[in-house]
Amino acid sequence: MKIGYFQYNPFYHDVLQNREYLGSRLANHSADLLVLPELALSGYLFRTNEEVFSCAETIPGPSSDFFHSLAKKNNTSYVYGCIEKAEPKASAADDLNYNFSSFYNSSVYINPSGDMKIYRKAHLFNREKNHFLPGNAPFFVFDVQGVTVGMLICFDHMFPEAARTLTLMGAQIICHPSNLVLQGYAQATTRSRSIENHIFWILANRIGTEQSGAVSCTYTGGSQITSPDGSILVSSASDEEDLTVIDIDPSLALDKNITQGNNLLTDRRTDLYQV
Ligand code: ACM
Repeated sequence: MKIGYFQYNPFYHDVLQNREYLGSRLANHSADLLVLPELALSGYLFRTNEEVFSCAETIPGPSSDFFHSLAKKNNTSYVYGCIEKAEPKASAADDLNYNFSSFYNSSVYINPSGDMKIYRKAHLFNREKNHFLPGNAPFFVFDVQGVTVGMLICFDHMFPEAARTLTLMGAQIICHPSNLVLQGYAQATTRSRSIENHIFWILANRIGTEQSGAVSCTYTGGSQITSPDGSILVSSASDEEDLTVIDIDPSLALDKNITQGNNLLTDRRTDLYQV
């Protein structure tokens, strides 16, 4: 199975330009599963809900249409991060002062047939809590060419329960669109998540710096793919665009034995803890 990621520096608050760039940059590159960063179409730094609204889209919407057409052209399934504009909620408090929408930091899987899955980030990071609602649906996995795949977004990596939950559901690969700002954390945690769950992990981070008023974010790149034994199969620089696709054997993630006498799933002491 060919899996990979595209690490790049999205145009700031310019969804159309990002779609145009991705269309040209990803042209003629194919993979079974290619992961893009968190908020890949908008950039990450927002100061007002008006700014968020200007970059938000419903799903399906123009960007998922764009990725569906790219998926067909390149015969590739994509996972990309975006701002999801959801339908109005019954409660005014859910509407973030807009009477027409709520926003989620979401990740979308879409394949050449147009099948789609949407994951809403469960663990919001820092100022994201000013703009987005936290994910409100149970974790889930889905099938990609016979392989079981799950999605998490960026800060979710700090909560091992999330990856463990997907593993217990059968995930062999976790797709992890990210906009990391804490140097080195996720490269370490996601490698650990690979080892402790015996799964593949595609960490797709972004690069670049965004500045808005007095606030700035520098993103740390270092995208990587780790394997069930914890090997780093490929990794990228902290500041360079990188489109990387590698071949893996996803069946390696089905074997949860660590020694002849130890299995990561059946050795769990669920009598002593909850997850
Ligand atoms: C993050 O969750 N974007 C750090």
